[in-house]
Amino acid sequence: MAIQRPKGTQDHLPDGSPKLSLDTRAAAFQHVQDTARQVLTRAGAQFITTPVFEEADLVKRGVGGSTDIVRKEMFTVYYFGDHGGFILRPEGTAGIVRAYLQNGLKQLPAPLKLWTHGPMFRAENVQKGRLRQFHQVDYEVLGSTDPLVDAEAILLMVEVVKALGLTGVRVKLGSIGDPADRDTYNAYLRDLFGTHVERLSDDSKDRLERNPMRILDSKSAGDQVLIAELGVKPMLDFLGNDAREHFQAVQKYLDAWDVAYDVDPSIVRGLDYYRRTAWELHHEGVGAKSALGGGGRYDGLAEQLGGPLVPGIGWAFGIERLLLAMEAEGLDIPGLGGPLLYVVALDDEFVGHAATVAITARRVARAEFAYRAVKPGNAFRDAERRGVRLVALIGSDEAQQNVLSIKNLATGVQTTVATHELNAFLSEQLEHTGSAVAPNSAVAQENA
Ligand code: HAM
Repeated sequence: MAIQRPKGTQDHLPDGSPKLSLDTRAAAFQHVQDTARQVLTRAGAQFITTPVFEEADLVKRGVGGSTDIVRKEMFTVYYFGDHGGFILRPEGTAGIVRAYLQNGLKQLPAPLKLWTHGPMFRAENVQKGRLRQFHQVDYEVLGSTDPLVDAEAILLMVEVVKALGLTGVRVKLGSIGDPADRDTYNAYLRDLFGTHVERLSDDSKDRLERNPMRILDSKSAGDQVLIAELGVKPMLDFLGNDAREHFQAVQKYLDAWDVAYDVDPSIVRGLDYYRRTAWELHHEGVGAKSALGGGGRYDGLAEQLGGPLVPGIGWAFGIERLLLAMEAEGLDIPGLGGPLLYVVALDDEFVGHAATVAITARRVARAEFAYRAVKPGNAFRDAERRGVRLVALIGSDEAQQNVLSIKNLATGVQTTVATHELNAFLSEQLEHTGSAVAPNSAVAQENA
């Protein structure tokens, strides 16, 4: 058997591929990215990219040494002569904050809104919606502690989901307080679980030492039974005044904008950098345990990475999970469709000419040509398969008179058009029938 792709990765394929599902359809991927681009750009976010591999320390300090991501799921990158200290990024936030600090982005007007999309890597147990290389759309706002920024971030996340047509999404909103609140909560958890250490999974015994709050996030069924039995109080009960006021202000804005959410006291999130507002978006189509996306405030992250205090907040969606949710709701994405024009030579000697005609036509529309001479009957069949609207034939008569015989496959109407008037003819066709540039946004963008 030929070499296969690594477990937990996916290929994103062109339309027409056999066994295509929404989450492996390249056009669907681009549709999500473009939808996010539209929503986020209108809100003032600028695009940023950072490397897919970074210093391991960035992730260890950023995401946190007690998280599953750092302890179990990091892909280490080795290359000749290096110190082995690089890893494939498991998420985008730490890299963006690093880039902000390293490139002096503090000089830009605050709050600075950034967004990106790209592959992330976590060596997880592979299952539906849980991959080793997955893709996120990520939004970050740096330089403000204002709860209005939190509310706007949540609103924008909901707007992206809505723009994709999803309806079955629930926002679960919580707060994980300020560091002092968390210290109090962790002390409470240490006391509580400390008397039942023997019932905790090995991972959670370790968590009890490092960061007891992580126990609540445990994937072990036994841990979850114990948590339920003990009636563990939620972090929300331990918020100090500042964090509580901040949380209330966020809710006030969301209420004013009619953004629906449920306060979920159990939100802990799987990364250590969060403070105060934290939330997740859930959808039945991706399973109860898996979030469609999540986010939160991370005011201490820049300092944790060795920089000055730069408050921040952001969120990320898993693109694959968004597509699974869309598939579950029966949503589809328009295909690219065929080109407006397909130029076919009826004789080998005119193939080059057909190519030139198509290439010239691309100034106004999507145009393709046949790479070999074809008989007229075959040309029409071939064009239909490709979803073409207009077929231009070039035989010896056409070549001699420098014209094209054009047939509209939808109406059956045939016309003769002078070659030098082709683009004007195509433009007129576009005006009458709408754009031949299919709704697929990638193409719209290329044409923009
Ligand atoms: P996260 O909750 O770890 O947050 O991931 C965000 C989303 O990425 C998840 O809700 C899920 O949709 C997707 N995702 C995560 N792991 C996988 C996986 N193994 N397979 C498929 N999809 C996955 C973050 O990454 C934070 N950086 C979000 C953030 C931005 N917080 C502040 N700014």
